[in-house]
Amino acid sequence: LPTNTHTHTHTHTHTEADTDTGGRELRFPDGFLWGTATAAFQIEGAASLRGPSIWDTFCRTPGKVHGGDTGDVAVDHHRLWREDVRLMASLGLGAYRFSVSWPRVLAGGIGFYDALVDELLSYGIRPCVTLYHWDLPQELESAGGWPERETAYAFARYAEQVTAALADRVELWTTLNEPWCSAFLGYASGVHAPGRTSPADSLRAAHHLNLAHGLAAAALPARARAGIALNPSAVRPLTGSAADLDAARRIDALANRVFTGPLLHGAYPQDLLADTAAVTDWSFVRHGDEALIHQPLDYLGVNYYTPAVVSAAPDGNGPRADGHGAAAHSPWPAAESVAFHQPPGERTDMGWSIDPTGLYDLLMRFTREAPGLPLLVTENGAAYAPDLHDPQRIDYLEAHLASVHRALADGAPVEGYFLWSLMDNFEWSYGYSKRFGIVQVDYETQARTPRSSAHWYARLARKGSFHT
Ligand code: NOJ
Repeated sequence: LPTNTHTHTHTHTHTEADTDTGGRELRFPDGFLWGTATAAFQIEGAASLRGPSIWDTFCRTPGKVHGGDTGDVAVDHHRLWREDVRLMASLGLGAYRFSVSWPRVLAGGIGFYDALVDELLSYGIRPCVTLYHWDLPQELESAGGWPERETAYAFARYAEQVTAALADRVELWTTLNEPWCSAFLGYASGVHAPGRTSPADSLRAAHHLNLAHGLAAAALPARARAGIALNPSAVRPLTGSAADLDAARRIDALANRVFTGPLLHGAYPQDLLADTAAVTDWSFVRHGDEALIHQPLDYLGVNYYTPAVVSAAPDGNGPRADGHGAAAHSPWPAAESVAFHQPPGERTDMGWSIDPTGLYDLLMRFTREAPGLPLLVTENGAAYAPDLHDPQRIDYLEAHLASVHRALADGAPVEGYFLWSLMDNFEWSYGYSKRFGIVQVDYETQARTPRSSAHWYARLARKGSFHT
């Protein structure tokens, strides 16, 4: 065991005290997966051992990333991966969701993931591999990026290469992570790489991401379980007025049904096409594309942090104030008439309001919309100022896991939960200024030290239950 993990004493008594004082025990099903999640660009570093991705370019564009931070070193996971796996094992975690870096694979670096998978399996930790977590090879962006159809085919070729190497040992696969962010933060608001601001291109990007998912899912071997991790919006109208309900419908189309339409039902929703008619005629959707996107899904991944409250606004209130960075452009093509509201109450360090009901609502929505489709919470967690004692994070996690438990009790087939994140890391346009880890990272020394929340989560993973 890494010394800084092993020697850490359980000074935090939050859960122990709760247990002693009783309270309600929330027990999860046997076999429920308890994991953490990370992504290649956010943790690996070792940038010289791969080609550049759009995030390398974006980080070097002045004003785009907090403090001019880069992914060159990140948390040095490419060097410290064995220690990081031992850390997970010492916490008793049964699963780990990580992403493969496309530019690293292009540079011949797939051996890193091969060894990582073996190491995880040797500790009995189930790997869940995400093929695309936002680090598009820069050369593909230079050739047009996700608005171009060819990018989807390039992704399919890359996916085949990765699955050929790892699918003999990896069962759980995620094609794309949060394609909404790739399409709309990347190509409409421009707060994410590649930083473009074209509403028409963002919709083309969304379609080609969908297509990329379909092509990759079709190429996965039969024993692999194929899924996608969406960040569905738990969208709520501010009032019950017809105008506010319509604002919520528009955002639901642009945030959710632009993906779940073809993914779950084999077609883009008519209202989405109508709402965006002034932006694009959708002629980039070719005959057969929607059927191709509509591959059998083995599970749906849900990433959830905070809900969206919307109302009708004659002039809108501009870009969404949702913690995805201050944008001069809206990530919502053709939703100028929608205003976004910050719900009252507590927020995390991202400024995101804490609302666990949104997670329950989403899990129940998909349970109704796709009966029998297994669900995984592929991300959930919270950023707080760095502190080894982090009761706020434990409170956040407890509240959201109570939502998962309630959804399970109401029939949602949730199979597991991946906490974002194992350790502090590069938080995109916020650089290293926001910390999501249950393990604290000292960015000077790269020392990892579990926070109270890590000990709390380890106990939950061991027992399969917690007391509220
Ligand atoms: C969404 C993304 O998948 C992940 O990369 C990010 O760090 C977290 N959520 C927190 O914003």
